[in-house]
Amino acid sequence: MTGSGVQLIDRVQATARLPEFDGLLQMALIAQGRARAPYSRFSVGAAVLGGSGASFPGCNVESASYGATICAERSAVVGAVAAGETAIRACVVVTPTLDPSSPCGICRQLLAEFGPDVLVFAASSLGDSVYVAALGDLLPLSFGPQNLDSLGPKAAAE
Ligand code: THU
Repeated sequence: MTGSGVQLIDRVQATARLPEFDGLLQMALIAQGRARAPYSRFSVGAAVLGGSGASFPGCNVESASYGATICAERSAVVGAVAAGETAIRACVVVTPTLDPSSPCGICRQLLAEFGPDVLVFAASSLGDSVYVAALGDLLPLSFGPQNLDSLGPKAAAE
């Protein structure tokens, strides 16, 4: 996860950036322990901070029909929305890698529904380093409702 707007920091600096970071990280680590990853053996945990201030965990859940697998980040978003959240402020993802791994493209695209200011923290369960970036820096020029609108009202209604 490198590129413009992406910073490599440590956990203390991450908490300075977002006071809720540590609570989200602890929640993501617990969720990582609950991941169902029998095929990849790559357990991922996540936690999102909803607009209400409440936090929601997620983990990857794999399927023998591989395409049915859901990532940890999307699982957390689904839980938050199902609980009534309409905004997502931040997402913390934890992977079992020496360096943090950034969210996959599909997860970035779903997080983009909540705007370019969603703060994404990628942490490692094996080390202290954390990547932080705004979603808009991770997924510039994302596909969005403006693209659907460009068809015009008639086409959109058809
Ligand atoms: N995975 C996530 O949960 N989040 C990501 O951002 C990338 C990948 C999961 C999906 C799959 O279960 C495993 O990691 C290996 O790709």
